[in-house]
Amino acid sequence: MPANPSTRRSFLRSLGVSGVLGPVAASLLRVDQALADELNGLAARRWVPEGLSDRYMIDPGVTYLNHASIGTMPRAVHDARVEYSAICESNPHLYVWGGAWDGMVEEVRARAARFLGASLEEVAITHNTTEGFNTLAYGLPLGPGDEVLFSSLNHGGASIPFEHAAKARGYTVRRFDFPIDDVPRLDVADVVELHRREIRPATRVLVFPHVDNIVGLRHPMAELAAMARAQGVDVVAVDGAQALGMIPVDAAASGVDAYSASPHKWLQSPKGLGLLYVRATLRERLSPMWVRYGVSRWGGTSRMYEDYGTRNWPEVLSLGDAMDFQDALGAADKEARYRRLFASMRERTRGAALRWNSPERWEMGSVLVSVGFASPANALSDRLYQERGIVLRAFQGGGLNAFRVSPNVMNTEAELDELFGELERAG
Ligand SMILES: Cc1ncc(COP(=O)(O)O)c(C=O)c1O
Repeated sequence: MPANPSTRRSFLRSLGVSGVLGPVAASLLRVDQALADELNGLAARRWVPEGLSDRYMIDPGVTYLNHASIGTMPRAVHDARVEYSAICESNPHLYVWGGAWDGMVEEVRARAARFLGASLEEVAITHNTTEGFNTLAYGLPLGPGDEVLFSSLNHGGASIPFEHAAKARGYTVRRFDFPIDDVPRLDVADVVELHRREIRPATRVLVFPHVDNIVGLRHPMAELAAMARAQGVDVVAVDGAQALGMIPVDAAASGVDAYSASPHKWLQSPKGLGLLYVRATLRERLSPMWVRYGVSRWGGTSRMYEDYGTRNWPEVLSLGDAMDFQDALGAADKEARYRRLFASMRERTRGAALRWNSPERWEMGSVLVSVGFASPANALSDRLYQERGIVLRAFQGGGLNAFRVSPNVMNTEAELDELFGELERAG
């Protein structure tokens, strides 16, 4: 869907006619128009990866294949963000506390709700996935006799808050070993069963990643949530850091209670922005991590989980632009591109001295894949960066000696050729 930020446009016009702010508003209107033109152009054309590189700011000397660690903002989103920041600095009180951007922020929240498959009142705009899990770990009514369960595929951003809070609150945390060697062959029923058999009467909370950060396994959210409820689990909390913006998210329909995500990865937003979905029935029991006077004002909506005082609204507005950019790429075209990248990476490991550690089928996998090989991954990763400018994440230890390869839409087959050629030579 092409961007049509009509509310934003009319807001800017109102600034323009107010006189005092005219020049700033006029410049922002120009940027806003440029953004709309860029996105409409993108949406109208069938883009190809080679044509996207100008739309991003990655150093031409860098082959960036680590979008799972942190994404990169499109140039148009970045440029608009600089302008939001400039207008904010022109009258900080007005733009931080004067409510000048309230309408625009609510529009961003509405778009975020759509990306999460949630309603407006269910969404908090946080700083990252980790923050959402800290809110859960400290804010859930857990105590002695209660258990939080997750697998070894869980990221520390989701598990460490629980491990820490458990000591203070007296509940327990249990981590089971996910059979990582079996990942290529697992189907939905297997993943559900692996979790089901670990649930005990004390298990109050089940945590899992929608897509994990090690092998890119897509966890079946709805099936896991239904199974957990049937087993008597109270709260199903999902880590969406590697999923939001990459695969469709339907938080409300899937029946999970909480979904915490980091748009600065696959949604390519400014860094330090998160989204947290909290179902109404959980909000009744989940205390915010920090509060100020707004906590009563937000009337039980998820906004109470982001009521922490001074905020960087220009960044939040840019999150809206980042979502518009993703919309302009087109969900179907984007998925088709991810599937091709996935298939291409899989093909490149066949018959080579490389090991495919990720799901065999796209439906169970993602565009984040793990490739194992014999020589030490950390040293090779350093060399690839120093000599070739290739940016990847090595996983050495914990039963793996592998590279995580996580391309995004702008990465090309030529870049994969270069990487896999190097990996094959290194053996
Ligand atoms: C699956 C997963 N969860 C959580 C995080 C933590 O993300 P953040 O630092 O944005 O909170 C990451 C970061 O890589 C991740 O991959």
